[in-house]
Amino acid sequence: MIRKETLAVQGNILHFLSEDEMIFIPNGVLYIENGKIIKIGTAKEILPRLKSSVLIKKYTDRLILPGFIDGHVHAVQTNAIASYGKRLLEWLEMYVFPLETKFENQDFARQNIRFFLSQLLKNGTTTAAVFPSRHPQATSILFEEANVLNMRLLSGKTSMDRNAPPSLCDKTEHSYSENEQLLLAIDEKYRTNYILTPRFAITSSEKQLEALSDLKKKYPNTAVQTHVSENREEVDAVKKLFPKAKNYLDVYDSFGFLGKGSLMAHAIYLEEEEWKRLAETQTSIVHCPSSNLFLGSGLFNLQKCREYAIPLALGSDVGAGTSFSMLKTAADAYKVAALQKMEFTAKYAFYLLTLGGAKALKQEAFIGNFEIGKEADFLVLNPMATDLMKARLSETNSIEEILFVLMMLGDERNLEAVYLQGKRVLF
Ligand code: GUN
Ligand code: ZN
Repeated sequence: MIRKETLAVQGNILHFLSEDEMIFIPNGVLYIENGKIIKIGTAKEILPRLKSSVLIKKYTDRLILPGFIDGHVHAVQTNAIASYGKRLLEWLEMYVFPLETKFENQDFARQNIRFFLSQLLKNGTTTAAVFPSRHPQATSILFEEANVLNMRLLSGKTSMDRNAPPSLCDKTEHSYSENEQLLLAIDEKYRTNYILTPRFAITSSEKQLEALSDLKKKYPNTAVQTHVSENREEVDAVKKLFPKAKNYLDVYDSFGFLGKGSLMAHAIYLEEEEWKRLAETQTSIVHCPSSNLFLGSGLFNLQKCREYAIPLALGSDVGAGTSFSMLKTAADAYKVAALQKMEFTAKYAFYLLTLGGAKALKQEAFIGNFEIGKEADFLVLNPMATDLMKARLSETNSIEEILFVLMMLGDERNLEAVYLQGKRVLF
């Protein structure tokens, strides 16, 4: 008989059963077998029933949370983070396209992508929807390296065949076969998934979008990730390039890209029709507040998104975003909401970083909370890791307030351990 790998972790457990149902178990225990959650409850309930052979890892006064989900990040823009002074289209031309061109070199790609993945984990991101470069080899490297680490990742080669430097443009006639080969190479024993990734409407010809549309029809479970309505100049350019489209989103709609699990990053300058269509199709939005502030793109209308009940995730969008930390990303989302006199509670933020993000990425069957049978990806956080946080929290007992301080002041210094499928990978 093969022996089960077992582990019990003890600490203050927090997770969500839905947006409104936050479960907090002070001095709780998660019991894990072969990387899956088997039991969750108070230490009193669980510990007496465990076999004596089970290792109990104690994290006194620490928060144990599901791993964070980054709904939109670029694996190939780490070295472009914090590049001064441009708005979206000039920023792409001046900093991002020259950097992405370098991913043709596989040694450079591997080294850079390894660093990128280590930054995700170091910040507690255990699942991400990732844009690589347009290069199939660099995309394979991303999958290989994520598989080595056992991360849950959604990615697909970035498709782009115009309005970029020639070396960063696909041969349109190869779009279908390059994507299909990569998609078929996905090995289901790992946790990596293929998602079609047209960069945005400006850099894909209709022919390329048609090829991706055909692939989506052939593999209907495959979702699409892209950028939409991030910047006014971009929106105007799309209108000129696609004069028959009703609006920006309609370009993607007309190729069949909308639907559950498809991810539209930014979504700042949406018309009413576009909000309606996202709601009807239950297409997800990824809100990237740090990026939107850094590039001066604009303020996301969170209230409208919630009124329309559109699935939502938060995204760091590094390299336009200025941090890999999803805590810092959430803090920026709070400030963007505050500027518009909108609510953004810590409870909602932690929901988005875990179960909400999992739903937006259509991964909630596997991750997002500690329901029995889910993959045991979790974080151990010390909310008092810095002197400032210790001082701020010295007279606080409410979990809501602890979460709010963690969101506003927290970063990777608060992380004490990261577990993927029940195995400690950091620190
Ligand atoms: N729109 C098209 N490409 C990009 C990108 O790389 N970053 C951001 N923020 N927006 C984009
Ligand atoms: Zn982006």
